[in-house]
Amino acid sequence: MKIAILPGDGIGTEIVEQAVRVLDATAQVLGLKFETETALVGGAAYEAHGHPLPDSTLNLAKAADAILFGAVGDWKYDKLERALRPEQAILGLRKHLGLFANFRPALCYEQLTHASSLKPELVAGLDILIIRELTGDIYFGQPRGRRTAVDGHFPGAEEAFDTMRYSRPEIERIAHVAFQAARRRSKKVTSVDKANVLETFQFWKDVVTEVHAQYPDVELEHMYVDNAAMQLVRAPKKFDVVVTGNMFGDILSDEAAMLTGSIGMLPSASLDKNNKGLYEPSHGSAPDIAGKGVANPLATILSAAMMLRFSLDQSAAADRIESAVKAVLSAGLRTPDIWSEGQGGTRKVGTREMGDAVVAALLGGAAAKATGKTITTKS
Ligand code: IPM
Ligand code: MG
Repeated sequence: MKIAILPGDGIGTEIVEQAVRVLDATAQVLGLKFETETALVGGAAYEAHGHPLPDSTLNLAKAADAILFGAVGDWKYDKLERALRPEQAILGLRKHLGLFANFRPALCYEQLTHASSLKPELVAGLDILIIRELTGDIYFGQPRGRRTAVDGHFPGAEEAFDTMRYSRPEIERIAHVAFQAARRRSKKVTSVDKANVLETFQFWKDVVTEVHAQYPDVELEHMYVDNAAMQLVRAPKKFDVVVTGNMFGDILSDEAAMLTGSIGMLPSASLDKNNKGLYEPSHGSAPDIAGKGVANPLATILSAAMMLRFSLDQSAAADRIESAVKAVLSAGLRTPDIWSEGQGGTRKVGTREMGDAVVAALLGGAAAKATGKTITTKS
């Protein structure tokens, strides 16, 4: 099993290092063999090669069975032309590898119910799955650019424009992914659109409804995106599988992440039609805490578990990692982002110690026995 490791920028390198240690420990315990190769991506690749997604990195990703990705981006690249900005690396990987199906589970761990900004009873036991279409919509639609307006409110003025578009096959394939995922869960899909205003999303709604005819055992509900944003903080547990376009999915998945207490806990998978995938934490590169050793590595570690389950057909190994994560949370270990005074956390730890604890839990040692200094940074 060949895994491409792309740590990226900011906290990306720190968290991926821990996830790789956890993969190594898993391989050791279960007698698996992973071949890993690391490459630069994002700002780090731009510094070294003048491009955020050099051919060497893209080719490594193409040749691998799965990709473990950290995060890209830093404010210092905000002034670069768009094609050279770190974000283009992840957008390019999605596009070039055809990773159209993005799974973003939002799961509230019972140990972290109090870390959410919502009332504990609203989020206790929350387990929803956002399925975001990832290679279409206004993110990739052409044409786009800047020009002089020939009509509109201010003819002759400078203007910018993007194109929102979806083709029937693009909507059909993501709808199938969502209905099939729902069959493995509680058989309910909420399709989020803006059909009351946008032609693209009236079409989305129509095509999803047509595909639904093949899944009579699954319940389908349609919801406008503004209402979905509201319902997510009003009664999030009413949702199970949510399927939506690239743009709405970007926004709603960050909102859903916060319900769980910390975006530092949420893994994600981006799959192609053959279940080859790129796995990354749902959070970004967090340049403000990069290099401080305080970032939460659990989202990346859980992404590695998703990789084992979805792309490498090793669900027993994935279960082991997920249990190890639960064990360290139960043992009271907390990185600053999930620390809240008097709510079950007994030791505030850094990135490496959290990795140590998961490795120890995997290797059979009690998580609480993990050694190392307790950090004192205030969250
Ligand atoms: C995400 C991120 C990316 C996106 C950025 C980094 C391009 O926000 O994965 O949600 O907008 O898709
Ligand atoms: Mg986003």
